[in-house]
Amino acid sequence: MKFFIDTANLSEIKEANDLGILDGVTTNPSLMAKEGITGHDNIMKHYVDICSIVDGDVSAEVIATDFEGMIREGEALAELHKNIVVKIPMTKEGIQAIKYFSGKGIRTNCTLIFSAGQALLAAKAGATYISPFLGRLDDISTDGTDLIAQIRMIYDNYMFQTEILAASVRHPMHIISCAEIGADVITAPLKAITALLKHPLTDSGLQQFLADYAKGNK
Ligand code: E4P
Repeated sequence: MKFFIDTANLSEIKEANDLGILDGVTTNPSLMAKEGITGHDNIMKHYVDICSIVDGDVSAEVIATDFEGMIREGEALAELHKNIVVKIPMTKEGIQAIKYFSGKGIRTNCTLIFSAGQALLAAKAGATYISPFLGRLDDISTDGTDLIAQIRMIYDNYMFQTEILAASVRHPMHIISCAEIGADVITAPLKAITALLKHPLTDSGLQQFLADYAKGNK
């Protein structure tokens, strides 16, 4: 299972990378805006900065919604660095762009997946990754993990190579559920990843070990 961090914040990306378990990064226009990254040149430079920190896949999203625009932006993004994966929204034009990029050997991440049918189409078009948005389905009282399980079954039935990248992950139990189902990748905020480290019995057990050592080694 691959772990990606879902942020455009360079210090959080460094912190996750320093843990030694990071396989990549996902960004989106909202995450870039949150970090105050605006303007074409700054945005491009920021993607290169991310690629210089993490030796893994970095999703960079197109803004265009028409086919020609997606191709133009996607090709420019792919030229920035070998680790860039072009993130394309799940639309009719997006599926056509994914098919085009697949033929050119440019890797893609089909984003904003909310149904099994969308995941099926993206796999048929040759997407490298699809991003089902777990948390946003939970937000509307629909179990996002059910969708991940359904997509897992469909992809296994037909041996699709497209990887399931569980996105909109909000907390550590989302990560555990995705691991149980067999998602290929999770992308999560730093706090959801580091929350996996914690258990109160680990903390109290370590305190006791250190106290017992101190008693015998005064
Ligand atoms: C990542 O690819 C997605 O854009 C992201 O996980 C969305 O997360 P959110 O629903 O918390 O905004």
